[in-house]
Amino acid sequence: MMKKEISSKKRAPDAKNKGLGLIFLIGFMGSGKTTLGRKLASRLGYMFMDLDHIFEAQEGMTIGEYFAKYGEDAFRKLESEVLKNNPYPENAVIATGGGLPCFFDNVEWMNAHGKTVYIKLAPKTLADRLQNEKDERPLLRERHGEALVQFIAEKLEEREPFYNKANIIANGLSLTAERVEELLNR
Ligand code: S3P
Repeated sequence: MMKKEISSKKRAPDAKNKGLGLIFLIGFMGSGKTTLGRKLASRLGYMFMDLDHIFEAQEGMTIGEYFAKYGEDAFRKLESEVLKNNPYPENAVIATGGGLPCFFDNVEWMNAHGKTVYIKLAPKTLADRLQNEKDERPLLRERHGEALVQFIAEKLEEREPFYNKANIIANGLSLTAERVEELLNR
């Protein structure tokens, strides 16, 4: 019997987008991973995936509801499984939850399976951006004004050693998809 050819032959990279593989966008809540990710994916002609949305669709509830029902530890375990077990196409732009790179070996796993881009922003900028949408985020719900800025500053300090393991660190202020594409192609 003839051996079935296993797909060891990789598809030739598209000349236009150079077959960049999996591009994981990482960074704090409010850094614009989803918005920028969609734009970048459409620019490159790649599929866009948002791991928070995949988590919610899989569990049939919002992340807020999941936190309330099972707690953060259970969320982190499942979040890591979603990252590692998700079926990815050859090329895709993937937005990740703000805490994801900071648990287990998630950031190393992303670096081994694709490229990581850290969208870096200062605590005050993040707080301003999150002011209107923080109710959907269980970690921020109870914090306002200066206390929100302070909380973000402390969390960011804790998380930056993980975020800084990214292949590319991009200044998130006025960051465009075009600029990220340029950084990826360097
Ligand atoms: C979290 C960020 C959220 C979501 C969850 C926890 C975090 O994702 O995964 O609420 O720990 O920073 P976004 O960064 O997409 O808001």
